[in-house]
Amino acid sequence: MTQEKRPLIALDFPTFEAMKDFLGKFPEDEKLFVKIGMELYYAQGPRVISYVKSLGHSVFLDLKLHDIPNTVYRSMRVLAQMGVEMTNVHAAGGVEMMQAAKDGLRDGTVKGKEVPLLIAVTQLTSTSQEILNEDQNIQTSVQDSVVHYAKRTALAGLDGVVSSAQEVALIKNATSKAFICLTPGIRMAGGDHGDQKRVMTPQEARKIGSDYIVVGRPITQAKDPVDAYYQIYKAWNEAI
Ligand code: C5P
Repeated sequence: MTQEKRPLIALDFPTFEAMKDFLGKFPEDEKLFVKIGMELYYAQGPRVISYVKSLGHSVFLDLKLHDIPNTVYRSMRVLAQMGVEMTNVHAAGGVEMMQAAKDGLRDGTVKGKEVPLLIAVTQLTSTSQEILNEDQNIQTSVQDSVVHYAKRTALAGLDGVVSSAQEVALIKNATSKAFICLTPGIRMAGGDHGDQKRVMTPQEARKIGSDYIVVGRPITQAKDPVDAYYQIYKAWNEAI
């Protein structure tokens, strides 16, 4: 099992115990790539990261930083010391802020270890045309804004963006093939969509060029989470 082909599991659990129970279902030698978001991190702090890392799993720390460049630099320096594999910022913070984030990760990484991948959120999928026009006062289409932010992210030297699978081709055309597109909103054919409106199967996401997929509830809420993970793993890898 090669590392880059693991679907990321969104560990959207409210407590440390719930997360621990979930991870305990997997065989010890199954090294996962998990996404830890704000809820778990704000509730439990860095011990979540050290626990998950102690089991040998890889971590995408999804905290979406957005602040002045100096604050983001200093925060990223701290996050890099935790040894996460990937983290993110909001592209709306600007090129200078994104570069500061990258510098912080570089400066905080323990010597000899790899600098974490850094990706940006362009527009949240909850941002409608109305929100874009009225709240943000951006007078373009959501899609144009996404592509614009992706270009600024590439210009800042970041590794990629979080995007919907539907936008991957557009983003890669505007940046480069190597520019990472990490895509949530993944469901197995016939699976429950939950609150996700536009979904893709792992196979479709792979074919369309997604580099990483993030899957939460189809695995975490499954009757047999380990089996669900293997099914998605298989679908994601069989597509090529
Ligand atoms: O449970 P589900 O598979 O829908 O979870 C997907 C994960 O990806 C959640 O952690 C969710 O917050 C995140 N996400 C998303 N859509 C985005 C950005 C992030 O579903 N546009």
